[in-house]
Amino acid sequence: MSNAVLSIQKLEAGYGSKAVVRDFSLDVAAGEFVSLLGPSGSGKSSVLRAIAGFLPAMGGRILLEGRDITGETPERRNVGIVFQNYALFPTMTAFENIAFALRVAKRPQAEVEKRVRDMATLSGIDEQLTRNPAEMSGGQQQRVAIARALVTGSRVLLFDEPLSNLDAKVRVTMRREIKRMQREVGFTAIFVTHDQEDALTMSDRIVVLNGGRAEQIGHGRTLYRQPATPFICQFIGASNELSPPVARRLLGAKGEGRSFVRLEDVLIAENGGGGARATVSHIEFLGSHSRVYMIVEGDTISAMLLGDDLPDVGSEVWVSIRPGAVHVFGGTCL
Ligand SMILES: Nc1ncnc2c1ncn2[C@@H]1O[C@H](COP(=O)(O)OP(=O)(O)O)[C@@H](O)[C@H]1O
Ligand SMILES: [Mg+2]
Repeated sequence: MSNAVLSIQKLEAGYGSKAVVRDFSLDVAAGEFVSLLGPSGSGKSSVLRAIAGFLPAMGGRILLEGRDITGETPERRNVGIVFQNYALFPTMTAFENIAFALRVAKRPQAEVEKRVRDMATLSGIDEQLTRNPAEMSGGQQQRVAIARALVTGSRVLLFDEPLSNLDAKVRVTMRREIKRMQREVGFTAIFVTHDQEDALTMSDRIVVLNGGRAEQIGHGRTLYRQPATPFICQFIGASNELSPPVARRLLGAKGEGRSFVRLEDVLIAENGGGGARATVSHIEFLGSHSRVYMIVEGDTISAMLLGDDLPDVGSEVWVSIRPGAVHVFGGTCL
């Protein structure tokens, strides 16, 4: 793709002779926000390290703005990186942390001052510039790390789980802050996370990694509504896998294959009206909704219910599946 700012083509990368990233291809447009989402060990950080140049490619190519950087040293790639642990220099002030690369490049003091202050304003840390990392909150440290990644003029930013060490409230704020900065600066982002909510809320596209391969690439809504594999179905959102007896009972399914139903597509009725008889085994209260577990045909199936109008634990209910809401893999569609 000619307008891709970053083009990864059939990348193979790993440690020793073992490839942990395999046949990985991705074109990223300028200004796009792409998340790499996957469980621990699925190869997310390895893809990022290969883009940054810390992990050599064993095969394939990486192009940055049309330039082949596959064999280039990290310093010459001009990508910025933001890590989970911030990786700030502990004995330096926020100002000097942000200024570091400019000092190395021996930029004149007036230019350093201006660029660091501009980035501090963008990142919302004007007041923190004289502090050391230990005197800042996690969110503030992460802002310093982002300012430091942007100050050299890198327009491709790689984020490796930057929100994982932040508490839930700060995490939500930082998601919005990163998106705001992206809008203001227009940088391109490759954002590694194991948190589907990070990926769903921030991304133009999500790449789901499984065992070092891209299992599906698309907008969050596409991955959610049209999962390509059982893995995607279970990793994005929450699904019940119906055992064959339950699938037969609830769907009249006769064919082979694995059937999945999202929790919100499991319908519960107190009396009659089709479906199967189920016994409520327990209920988890989650604030805005509750998860109701039921036993059907000896198997557990769960539903997500809004509000407080819930069946009693131990009671019998009727359970059915919203029409058209089943994802079937490896068999004939219903
Ligand atoms: N330095 C390393 N040496 C050897 N194997 C590694 C190293 N770093 C990661 N791996 C292996 O590579 C695979 C992918 O790891 P990684 O890219 O860190 O996954 P993720 O970031 O998705 O958790 C895992 O099986 C992991 O054990
Ligand atoms: Mg990682």
